Amino acid sequence: MMQKNLISNLSLLPPDALLGLMAAYKEDTREIKVDLGVGIYKDASGATPVLRSVKSAEKVLLTSVTSKAYEGPRGNQVFDNAVEKQLFGSKSDTVSSGRITSFASPGGCGALSVAVGFVKRLKADGVVWVSNPSWPNHAHVVRAMGMKTDSYSYDEIQDGENAGQIDFEAIKCSLDKAEPGDGIIIQGPCHNPTGMDLTNEQWKLFARLCTEKSIFPIVDIAYHGFGASLDEDLVGVREFLELAPEALISYSCSKNFGLYRERTGCLVAQSQNAEQTPIVASHLADIARASYSMPPAHGAAIVATILENDELKTEWINELDEMRDRIKSLRSEMAEALRSHGKDEAANRILRQKGMFSLMKLKDGAAEKLREDHAIYLPGSGRINVAGLKSENIKYVAKCMAPYLF
Ligand SMILES: Cc1ncc(COP(=O)(O)O)c(C=O)c1O
Repeated sequence: MMQKNLISNLSLLPPDALLGLMAAYKEDTREIKVDLGVGIYKDASGATPVLRSVKSAEKVLLTSVTSKAYEGPRGNQVFDNAVEKQLFGSKSDTVSSGRITSFASPGGCGALSVAVGFVKRLKADGVVWVSNPSWPNHAHVVRAMGMKTDSYSYDEIQDGENAGQIDFEAIKCSLDKAEPGDGIIIQGPCHNPTGMDLTNEQWKLFARLCTEKSIFPIVDIAYHGFGASLDEDLVGVREFLELAPEALISYSCSKNFGLYRERTGCLVAQSQNAEQTPIVASHLADIARASYSMPPAHGAAIVATILENDELKTEWINELDEMRDRIKSLRSEMAEALRSHGKDEAANRILRQKGMFSLMKLKDGAAEKLREDHAIYLPGSGRINVAGLKSENIKYVAKCMAPYLF
């Protein structure tokens, strides 16, 4: 009997919009072209270099690593503990009370997948709530893990004394329908794509909301240190974790250590009491085992080496400061250029926002026109990677973009 062509049941999926944009940018032969699409940091020359602290750590590892045997489900535990310290501070009662367990993961995405898998074990037919807008991969991961997803409003207040702040009442309203046992993904500092963060007070309100409604929070931290200093960036998240007794935190080292392709992240779990920690750990290990089995080691070893060595850590913090300062000064330059075209509101917004991204309020079809007419590449959502700008092309970008801005 002839083998059936089973693959014929499948049709070609549309290409990933951002990857398509990347490919089109590469092929564009125009002299002036600007890539504001893909979410990776770029320096003044447009490169994404390996950090000096990372290079130094790799030199250390070249001689100190003597085995490539599996490290076990939690991966490198020096790394896990170092991430816990980054998150909770060096003297945390929560950590010393035994309520925390952490698992090295293949990037932030690996941590998010396991986190959603865990929420599914709490309530298989639950919904995982994602901000609107959010990083598109959030909903994608939730669906791929076999869960339903819905969205909560994440927009700024337009008028009055709190104009420019996230509208927490709108968040609350859109979560009216959330049921006990549902999950929610809340982004830590430098929200992707809006660049607009919750205030520290709103983090506390969010913790109370999750607790009152028994929604299980997954805090997604992918840009730690891009908004402000390491400690300052996490003030709100730490207050949240003080008040929300149970939570999962996915921590990505892709951006702040520039380790994108090494797939370096960590899933940190906080339980209500130390007795539940081994139960939680057993489920996280079980979910990971059925997927990637064991986490990758190299990136985690680099991060552990940096964070455990005072000199390397200082160097890394300096490099992180450099990245953040560059983004801040690009924001100021872009704001000035936008103002020169009478776009004061867009200018104010870009100054208010934090981290690598800004969501430009563009008219329909603007992204295509900017790409076709001016070789400026950005996704249809209007999200720009501020680090993709350069001092020498900012005036050009602002001039081309201004007619399309609301
Ligand atoms: C909001 C957000 N979360 C998580 C991630 C995960 O990144 P990675 O899996 O590369 O560590 C990203 C990366 O772009 C992100 O923007």
